Amino acid sequence: MTIELRNVTKNFGQFTAVRDVDLRVDAGEVVCLLGPSGCGKTTMLRMIAGLETPSAGEVFFAERNVTKLTPEQRNVAMVFQFYALYPSLTVEQNLTFPLYAENLSKSKRQARVADAAEILQLTDILDRTPSEIAEGEKQRVAVARAIIREPSCFLFDEPLSRLDVELRESMRAQIKEVLLGLSKPTVIVTHDQLEALTMADRITIMRDGVIEQIGTPHEVFAKPANVFVASFIGTPQMNLLEARLTDTTGQDAALMLDGELLKLNLGEAASAVASQEVTLGIRPRAFSLQSETGANSITVSSEIIEPMGAETLIHARNKSDTEIRVVVPRERRVQIGDVLHLVPDTGQTQLFNEQGKAVW
Ligand SMILES: Nc1ncnc2c1ncn2[C@@H]1O[C@H](COP(=O)(O)OP(=O)(O)OP(=O)(O)O)[C@@H](O)[C@H]1O
Ligand SMILES: [Mg+2]
Repeated sequence: MTIELRNVTKNFGQFTAVRDVDLRVDAGEVVCLLGPSGCGKTTMLRMIAGLETPSAGEVFFAERNVTKLTPEQRNVAMVFQFYALYPSLTVEQNLTFPLYAENLSKSKRQARVADAAEILQLTDILDRTPSEIAEGEKQRVAVARAIIREPSCFLFDEPLSRLDVELRESMRAQIKEVLLGLSKPTVIVTHDQLEALTMADRITIMRDGVIEQIGTPHEVFAKPANVFVASFIGTPQMNLLEARLTDTTGQDAALMLDGELLKLNLGEAASAVASQEVTLGIRPRAFSLQSETGANSITVSSEIIEPMGAETLIHARNKSDTEIRVVVPRERRVQIGDVLHLVPDTGQTQLFNEQGKAVW
């Protein structure tokens, strides 16, 4: 079973919430829709579910056009940001309810409920009603209720957003494990990049109703397609520094950045970098620190020091007052006001053209 969106657009009046989107989710694959608030994630999910009809384009389940089918006909399992449990039923009854549609023996039903309850740590609260359990527990009941059936696909909208950090971490792993065993396509909407990076086989990064990039967690992190993706993925944020390309000789490029010269070996890409004004993208962990000025270094002065446990985050500024974030191991002592010479690891450096598109 495969989910496919072909040229899907959704307008609300004059406003276009999703614009000409193509997406394919294979059986057993987890795809996360990631992007800032209002970018169209929930709208996309609702169109896959059948809760919203596309203004243009088509939705396919297993090569079958389901654009006009209801959620029931599509047999999707959904967990939404605002889940709806039956308030008068116990947790156990809430879990059992979706199973009545399937012709199971009582013992099979009980076994399924017991399994789902165990996976989501609900065994002790099976007798309670939704008003007698905590918010996080309600969310877990909603997830359990979705995985208990045999749906065509799983659709989650911010499923973990109301859980505390610890529970979220263990739930991420647990849901991932459950999904692995089910071989169904899964779409998870989130604006939490950690959730996307840890749970997704592929991440779809959206902005203003448009897909900016689709790729594995590694691809979107290591090779962001544009400055939007580059700044959206990764914490602390990637440094995006304005620079001027002064010279390309063969595969080598010379960049002028804040009055200092940086040399990069661009390889094959050298001839493709047409623009003079470029943005240099460097991850905060991709610097080595030198105490002396040297070739290929960026001179900064440290302003704010934030210990983060095993690492320290330094907010520094260069001469032209641009902030540069640097993460160093805890052992590397840095004081406020220290002048640092940052040498970028060119293997972890990106170059974007004037339109913000990655050219290297
Ligand atoms: N029924 C509707 N009528 C009019 N506009 C809508 C409707 N549903 C969504 N929108 C608009 O479409 C855009 C996308 O909404 P959507 O809910 O898909 O965003 P989202 O990415 O899920 O955001 P969030 O992260 O805040 O949940 C928003 O600007 C929203 O206001
Ligand atoms: Mg949403």
